[in-house]
Amino acid sequence: MHTYRAILTKRDIRTFADKAIPDDVLRKILNAGRMSGSSRNSQPWHFVVVRDRARLKTLSGFGRFAQHVATAAAAVCVVLDSPRAAFDGGRCAQNIMLAAWNFGIGSCPASMHRHDEARAFLGAPDTHAVITVISLGYPHPKGRGAVERTALRILAGRGRRPLASLVSWELYGAGSPGI
Ligand SMILES: Cc1cc2nc3c(=O)[nH]c(=O)nc-3n(C[C@H](O)[C@H](O)[C@H](O)COP(=O)(O)O)c2cc1C
Repeated sequence: MHTYRAILTKRDIRTFADKAIPDDVLRKILNAGRMSGSSRNSQPWHFVVVRDRARLKTLSGFGRFAQHVATAAAAVCVVLDSPRAAFDGGRCAQNIMLAAWNFGIGSCPASMHRHDEARAFLGAPDTHAVITVISLGYPHPKGRGAVERTALRILAGRGRRPLASLVSWELYGAGSPGI
């Protein structure tokens, strides 16, 4: 898939088919995360991959809107060396999700509101942080299910704001002729 097209068409998917992700594809997805840039190339992440159904269910309990984790084919838990590496973690997570989408695999982040319990459950050191878990799975052939409809109800809005409302030139609020 063309990169720009992957970026424009990647929507967060929370309803997954009951289909495993082949190991070689999962490996490529994780490698996309590994290749992400980070501040001073510090690479402050470690990926815990959860595929065991019972553990996915438990993991989904650590987030208020993480029901989709329970039904995912796999969850990639981006464990950060410190909460201060959140932006690095975000870059890494986006690369993982875009690479997955390139292979036709849907994904959605899940915030771990009970992040200390999530970290302990994953066996990560208490100096580390598990801010986001990424659900991965092939999109369900019947499309959006109940989990999705619930999630969509809490969203601040659908779609994206117009580009012109998001861009300023040289100074905040300054428009640009013709762009
Ligand atoms: C930092 C972050 C945390 C998120 N946490 C959750 C979450 O806990 N549960 C959930 O269902 N979606 C979560 N999302 C997904 C957002 O709801 C989604 O990106 C947004 O609604 C746009 O979705 P769309 O690309 O499908 O339009 C999160 C997204 C981000 C960037």
